[in-house]
Amino acid sequence: MIVVMAGLIFFAGKTFGFLNHKVVETTSKAIVYIPANDPADAKYPQGAKIFKEKCVACHQLTGMGIPGAFPPLKGSDYLKANKKSALIHVLNGSSETITVNGAQYSIPMPPQVDNYKDAVAVVNYVLNAWGNNFGTVTLADAKDIKIVR
Ligand code: HEC
Repeated sequence: MIVVMAGLIFFAGKTFGFLNHKVVETTSKAIVYIPANDPADAKYPQGAKIFKEKCVACHQLTGMGIPGAFPPLKGSDYLKANKKSALIHVLNGSSETITVNGAQYSIPMPPQVDNYKDAVAVVNYVLNAWGNNFGTVTLADAKDIKIVR
């Protein structure tokens, strides 16, 4: 009985968590809700706005992407190690096959923003949203990149 109820709570949590666009992380023992009011939204409002307009379609509001198609940004070892590549991704797109947390992604990502300021804003947002603590990039970092369209 307890097992069945736990299953129901688990299922309801997943369902409503998904509908409310909250991250629901599960392990065998716990359901963890990450609050919808991510501190990164207040810290990087412009980046949050751009993310919610442009990136969510693929990387999802949860930052967890879609397995096999769109890589996660939340907890991404690739993002953590390649901040400059994140700037290149948003400015110029990418058609490389990359490995994120052990899985390969080969669908191309189209360019998303057309100026350095927006690139820095949205990259700093994803570097620090969903509990990421991956540091920041500067306008000078972005200006090293040639925008090719
Ligand atoms: C049309 C779908 C799509 C959109 C929209 C999109 N991306 Fe991507 N993104 C991808 C795909 C596919 C990859 C993996 C392929 C690659 O890197 O060439 C990727 C890779 C990435 C990576 C590097 C891999 C990782 O997981 O760390 C970053 C960083 C990134 N995207 C950030 C963004 C940001 C920020 C935005 C919005 C400004 C955005 N993307 C919008 C599809 C998308």
